[in-house]
Amino acid sequence: MNTNTKKILLIISGGIAAYKILDLIRNLKKKNYEIKTILTETAKEFITPLSIASLSQNKVYENKFDIHNEVEMDHIALSRWSDIVLIAPATANLLSRLASGAADDFITTVVTASNKDIFLVPAMNVEMWNNKATQENIQKLISFNYKFIGPAVGELACGEVGEGKMSSINEIEKTLEQYFFGKDKIFSNIKAIVTAGPTREYMDPVRYISNESSGKQGYEIAKKLYESGFNTTLITGPTNINYPKNMKVVKVTSAKEMFASCQNELPADIAICTAAVADFYPHFESEKIKKDQLENEYSLKLNKNIDILEYLSNHNQFRPKLVVGFAAETKNILENSLKKLQKKNCDWIIANDVSDKSIGFNSENNEVTIIYKDQKTEKISKVSKSEIAAEIVSRVINNIKVNHAKNFN
Ligand code: PMT
Repeated sequence: MNTNTKKILLIISGGIAAYKILDLIRNLKKKNYEIKTILTETAKEFITPLSIASLSQNKVYENKFDIHNEVEMDHIALSRWSDIVLIAPATANLLSRLASGAADDFITTVVTASNKDIFLVPAMNVEMWNNKATQENIQKLISFNYKFIGPAVGELACGEVGEGKMSSINEIEKTLEQYFFGKDKIFSNIKAIVTAGPTREYMDPVRYISNESSGKQGYEIAKKLYESGFNTTLITGPTNINYPKNMKVVKVTSAKEMFASCQNELPADIAICTAAVADFYPHFESEKIKKDQLENEYSLKLNKNIDILEYLSNHNQFRPKLVVGFAAETKNILENSLKKLQKKNCDWIIANDVSDKSIGFNSENNEVTIIYKDQKTEKISKVSKSEIAAEIVSRVINNIKVNHAKNFN
């Protein structure tokens, strides 16, 4: 139990999962949290103000402007009172209204007036969660700095199975404890960008140059950074795998777009470039090139793409404190990778033998050697890409703690 009282403004919106919130209030009270609650009208159908008031031992507000509330504590004062705002469950409708910046009732006014971190705990049907508009709203909310807890995958109240289930009370508590008292809280101010996947360089509307990168290795690194508490942005070329949840994801197609997105994300503290960026791009014909108009041979003139890793490593104003590249090699792996580290001026390069089909491009596992600037090397033997990511991120954390901790406190 912590001895330091933290104040939570809990907003309960109307979903069947609302009834579980009573357990959350009971547990948080035992841990010495102070809780004030606002209930939407629909939430009152699932849970009563009286039960919440009894458990929280505090006033319960309703989602309406009320002269007594405003005299006792107005909506601005209420948003200032709390250390965080926790919205659980958060319905698709409420997410949409927050994403649009609505401030037309008590809850949205309190939220938009808040200067504290806001945690959203979504709960909805799987199709509602996967709905394009909901997903767009989530990306918007992440870019506005809202923090998400869940949702989980499982059997939903409607009987369907999938993503959209409210995170367990235990998970919500763990996230709050980590946020308030966790050892790694210092990382939330540290921004990490990860590039991943291939780029596509189109020569006409239907043909392009690309490569076999699946994005898996980069996504796993982005996930581990996010789970460790870093403020993480994933910049990804086209892939067929699910985007990691709850972090900012920037989708690009070409190397030029990936470069522009990296520039947009500066300043950043950490950059990890796993993307297989096409080194060259062809001239783009706006109409499909007709093969019957061509001779038997067709030459493509290619121009060099900017090297993003080299650009980040040599940025004179915003060079990230730690820049990590990957080197995909088929022979003289360590020697060629070291040359890349030196040419591009990154801090570490992670040598990846891509001649072995069971590791590297588009495989489940990987085996890499980290080469540090002082030429020391560390091999990570064949394991899943998720385990490779965990090994790399633990070294990133050590590096940040040892070399840069004072810059982040
Ligand atoms: O995506 P997966 O299927 O999981 O596969 C993972 C991977 C094999 C793609 C990954 O582990 C890997 O090795 N990524 C680097 C791929 C690559 O293009 O390497 P490179 O040796 O060509 O480039 C060296 C470094 O420069 C890389 O960090 C690359 O992101 C960067 N680069 C290259 C060219 C360019 N124009 N801009 C860059 O930033």
